[in-house]
Amino acid sequence: GNAFKGRDVVTWLDYSTDEILELLDLAQSLKKQPHSKKLEGKTLAMIFEKSSTRTRVSFEAGMLQMGGHAIYLNSKDIQLGRGETIADTAKVLSSYVDGIMIRTFHTETVTELAKHASVPVINGLCDTYHPCQALADVLTILELKGSFKGVKAVFIGDGNNVAHSFMILAAKLGMDVVVSCPEGYEPVKEIEEQTLQLAKLNGGSYTLHYDPVEAVAGANIVYTDVWASMGQEEEAETRMTAFTPYQVNAGLMSHAAADASFLHCLPAHREEEVTAEVIDGPQSAVFQQAENRLHVQKAILQSVL
Ligand code: CP
Ligand code: NVA
Repeated sequence: GNAFKGRDVVTWLDYSTDEILELLDLAQSLKKQPHSKKLEGKTLAMIFEKSSTRTRVSFEAGMLQMGGHAIYLNSKDIQLGRGETIADTAKVLSSYVDGIMIRTFHTETVTELAKHASVPVINGLCDTYHPCQALADVLTILELKGSFKGVKAVFIGDGNNVAHSFMILAAKLGMDVVVSCPEGYEPVKEIEEQTLQLAKLNGGSYTLHYDPVEAVAGANIVYTDVWASMGQEEEAETRMTAFTPYQVNAGLMSHAAADASFLHCLPAHREEEVTAEVIDGPQSAVFQQAENRLHVQKAILQSVL
């Protein structure tokens, strides 16, 4: 609706529960009716400072399905990579396109872009948030479980971008949110506090357990992500040691509810954060979850552009 026009999507913190539900509703109808002319003549610029398969292709295909167009911009190929400022890039791109998606390292790059752009800016992952992923995650949970209230959703692994955005949205929707990570890899304290507040407001809860077995007890959703994110390649070995006890395998899944579903934002590393048995097994919903990136992003685009 009108309340969405022109807004940025950086964290979801500035969107109400009702607005999130409205976007999910639209995503569900776009999933049934994918083609339209709603974005005819509209262009999305997509700046990537990191690799991507899902985000890149789902945004581009999504724009096309609604009659619009997307332009892939590798940050190394545009003047940004040679030192042109984010502010100047924002102003120039705003005079050509109707929206900008950016995948970057620092959240400040997204907020700086949003500050200087006169068109909506969508965060396609930064080091602290991955809002589009989280919207796909909760749509998948809604499809799998039928509702949010009373759903125990456990994130096992790195308290990082994917976990942060999931915590915020899951709490906003009233789920019982649990994070389990090694010491030193907790979510950002401020985001834990926001999650706790949001959970209280919306009838859910938030807890952190260092013990993964304790964490997954009775879980309806078990969610994990890679142990070393993009930009953390040098820490891979240290992280491997710290995270090994947090592998999602059949043993760990046996402590979850019998009908628990497994989620992963992908790309996955089999036999590291998850065994092939789990991610390729009957409880896994990872490809449904990946598909939903397309539908939720189209709902975002149609609403804000
Ligand atoms: N989950 C996700 O964002 O995947 P990509 O890195 O392939 O975009
Ligand atoms: N946490 C991962 C997610 C990739 C989609 C990363 O930032 O690399």
